[in-house]
Amino acid sequence: MTRPQLDHLRELRHKALEGGGSERVKAQHEKGKLTARERIARLLDPDTFVEIDALVLNRGVDPAAGTPAFLGDGVVTGHGKIDGRDLFVFSQDFTVFGGSLGKGHAEKICKVMDLALKTGLPVVGLNDSGGARIQEGVVSLGGYADIFLRNTLASGVVPQVSAILGPCAGGAVYSPAITDFVLMVDKTSTMYVTGPNVVKTVTKEEVSHDDLGGAHVHNEKSGVAHFLAADDDDCLAMIRRLMGYLPANNLAEPPRAAPSDPTDRADADLDALIPDAPNKPYDVKEVISRVVDAESFFEVHERFAANVVVGFARLSGFPVGVIANQPAVLAGVLDMNASVKAARFIRFCDAFNIPLVTFEDVPGFMPGTAQEHGGIIRHGAKLLYAYCEATVPKLTVILRKAYGGAYDVMSSKHIRGDLNLAWPTAEIAVMGPQGAVEIIYKKEISQAQDPKAKEAELVKEYTSTFANPYVAASRGYIDDVIEPHETRQRLIAGLQLLRTKRDKNPPKKHGNIPL
Ligand code: HXC
Repeated sequence: MTRPQLDHLRELRHKALEGGGSERVKAQHEKGKLTARERIARLLDPDTFVEIDALVLNRGVDPAAGTPAFLGDGVVTGHGKIDGRDLFVFSQDFTVFGGSLGKGHAEKICKVMDLALKTGLPVVGLNDSGGARIQEGVVSLGGYADIFLRNTLASGVVPQVSAILGPCAGGAVYSPAITDFVLMVDKTSTMYVTGPNVVKTVTKEEVSHDDLGGAHVHNEKSGVAHFLAADDDDCLAMIRRLMGYLPANNLAEPPRAAPSDPTDRADADLDALIPDAPNKPYDVKEVISRVVDAESFFEVHERFAANVVVGFARLSGFPVGVIANQPAVLAGVLDMNASVKAARFIRFCDAFNIPLVTFEDVPGFMPGTAQEHGGIIRHGAKLLYAYCEATVPKLTVILRKAYGGAYDVMSSKHIRGDLNLAWPTAEIAVMGPQGAVEIIYKKEISQAQDPKAKEAELVKEYTSTFANPYVAASRGYIDDVIEPHETRQRLIAGLQLLRTKRDKNPPKKHGNIPL
């Protein structure tokens, strides 16, 4: 090889590293954002990134017309490792045409997605883009559609994670929306279908970028985002943690970590955790963290529909997906958002061989016109459907209330629950004692000399007869009533037994989940 040839290659490589140049890099840093390459370096294990397509050039280069040449076309793509495990990554470079997506840019993303599907490896997308590259017109719209198609084909085959680290507008939002997890960074990231200017023209509303589609909005109100990060570093660290629970693809087992906690740890405080009064709230996260391996609970969708808690955890090092009603928020009732949140999480876990552990304390579905008219039937059905179709190991612990349809829905034995346990505090019945007594003893109460005393007496009687776990246990609907401190050991033993579980749904093109 002659020196000039080597020099030329080195010059090209050096140029590709420059992105949009030092001024734009400075502007990026001033906004509190890292560059595309700095992000990749923080996301991956040191020195593991292998770049692909650094020499791809943007289309329509014409410096005279304001279209300079940029090697890499505004996106850095390749593969690397997180904790020694391979994955593909793309990182949009806002310093080149605002990270906007032209033909070459889209082709680069499609190439890594195709490779990810072929090799069965996850894809992490770091998004920071002004959207479709205006200069390239419909070609860039086609590029987006090419990506959407791949997101859909890869769904349920390899995990897909999207970090929003800057703007993400227009139809561009639909790529992250199809992926499994969306992370947003406080103050610097936005997602919306139309920006504030269009909103003002169409609806006359005046709203800031952040109030329209900032990280808080999508984590707390819309549920589009699953994680809220303080800054880029925090976001990239969260992705590293998240990947630690996920298998590389739908045919692989999730990675076991070295157990951080003795398998036979019995937390005696659990025995007194449920309050005596049935309507008194408690924090179900206390239960989760006392049962699972120390420090292993990683909550997903923490700020959305907090009446249900979902997240990853480990039991004896094995990843599990936890779904728990939260009595501390709206008494743990299932409403539309909680149903959809839990359903999507369950479907992700089922697609990727992650066993489901359900902690149940639910008074039922949320009553009222707002919920009925909003479609609680349709949304609640999604949760039921997700639990019914799931074939991964399903372990359930009824902590307290399991009333009505919610008893059936929350991974009951009847919908293929594998191990169904209950604490002695469980109340499993068609409805709560008060409501039940008011209906079935209406006449007796109204005809009694002292209706209030009669009602109290009947509530007491109903509670001891029905609002307990023993009727369900006598039917085999739950496998055992356990002391709360035994929960960890019993779940670990159950998981170990169920590792060889095989279950199948009837062959079909796909089901018809009530969307
Ligand atoms: C080409 C773009 C661009 C775009 C930004 N730039 N967006 N170039 N196509 N879509 C360029 C700018 O010209 C500028 O170039 C650089 O990126 C930085 O942009 P600024 O405006 O200076 O940055 P900032 O003030 O931070 O504002 C960022 C922004 C704004 C909010 C993203 O640029 C913006 O509103 N852009 C347009 C967004 C948009 O409407 N996109 C289309 C969405 S519809 P220089 O050379 O000065 O550095 C869509 C459809 C997808 O995407 C459909 C899929 C089906």
